[in-house]
Amino acid sequence: MTTYLVTGGAGFIGSNYILYMFHKYSDQIRIINVDALTYAGNLENLKSVEDLPNYTFIRADITDKEAITKIFEDNEIDQVIHFAAESHVDRSIRNPEVFVKTNVLGTAVMLNCARAAWERADGSYPAGKRFHHVSTDEVYGSLPDDGVSYFYETTPYAPHSPYSASKASSDMLVRAYIDTYHFPANITNTSNNYGPYQFPEKLIPLMINNALHGKPLPVYGDGRNIRDWLYVDDHAKGIDMVGLYGKLGETYNIGGHNERRNIEIVTTIIDTLLELLPDSDPRKKNVSRDLITYVEDRKGHDRRYAIAPDKAKRELGWEPDTTFEVGIKKTIKWYLENEEWFSHVTSGDYQKYYEEMYHT
Ligand code: NAD
Ligand code: TYD
Repeated sequence: MTTYLVTGGAGFIGSNYILYMFHKYSDQIRIINVDALTYAGNLENLKSVEDLPNYTFIRADITDKEAITKIFEDNEIDQVIHFAAESHVDRSIRNPEVFVKTNVLGTAVMLNCARAAWERADGSYPAGKRFHHVSTDEVYGSLPDDGVSYFYETTPYAPHSPYSASKASSDMLVRAYIDTYHFPANITNTSNNYGPYQFPEKLIPLMINNALHGKPLPVYGDGRNIRDWLYVDDHAKGIDMVGLYGKLGETYNIGGHNERRNIEIVTTIIDTLLELLPDSDPRKKNVSRDLITYVEDRKGHDRRYAIAPDKAKRELGWEPDTTFEVGIKKTIKWYLENEEWFSHVTSGDYQKYYEEMYHT
């Protein structure tokens, strides 16, 4: 049985990954979820697996070396899947320091503890040990709006925001461990994810939530910035496939050629909400294109991101299963059917769940 140490498993992608892995492997795997439960961590996302005997939650900060060392001492960890990070560009512009602490120092602590637990006296590592560092395409900087240039694994790093700079630094640390200690690691750089359980400060859930409440839909700048959207389950599948078929030491770009301008995303959300909501639903009268409000642009706003996923397709056989048209409808439907989740997150009630659940 493989034991996975998942960091940041209470966040958006981490929780979807844990649900994906239990759905696929059931009792054939063990997952230990380590999360500090910042504002972005929500254990309600994992209600359906919290009582499984092969699932354990540990509240710990990845910058806390003692706590992380103890987890490695108490458990025979086979694979680390490292999601934990500060992840929101706008927050990083307002307060960069916590991004450096969690994303850079936290990754260093995770690498160090894994190496201390796994490395043999002769510098080799037992088969089956692997550290998977989850990163972003934002480390590559911004592409021109030409529709033909893409981010490859060999594209030089050129981060612009404090968030992407901190992720680039963490990627470089992982590369240094691979080169210096022959450390068994992989990196994946992935495009913008969307799907259930995403905190409503990111574009898609924020626009859905605001539209349902008749609040303005704040579009930054001219709204023509391009992001390459990936349904979160396809990301989870990609991470799993790197573990199954990837070569240690390699980086893989995971993205599904789903480029959209922000304004297209916003109008698609409005149109889909109007299509899905029955006339009898009181929320329907709030939803309108008139809510679109152009606001001041984000500082240093990257124009276009677009991943070339050729290597993942060629070497792993990875391809996304969900097109944007199907994925966005599924996502909006999920938010409509899970209004309670939304209201707990927006009211802050989700943070009480830990105390109630774990009686602290
Ligand atoms: P998220 O903000 O939703 O979740 C982050 C999780 O990490 C939360 O549960 C939070 O409590 C936890 N965390 C934060 N600081 C911590 C600390 N010091 N110690 C322990 N836990 C801590 O983020 P997400 O969108 O799920 O992103 C997960 C990872 O994927 C990140 O590394 C991010 O850089 C990367 N990524 C995200 C996207 C995206 O579109 N969201 C795209 C590519 C890559
Ligand atoms: P976001 O979801 O914050 O992801 P990222 O910055 O990591 O790409 O933003 C996606 C795009 O949407 C980005 O170009 C900024 C834009 N955006 C808005 O126009 N309005 C908003 O309220 C938000 C949150 C984002």
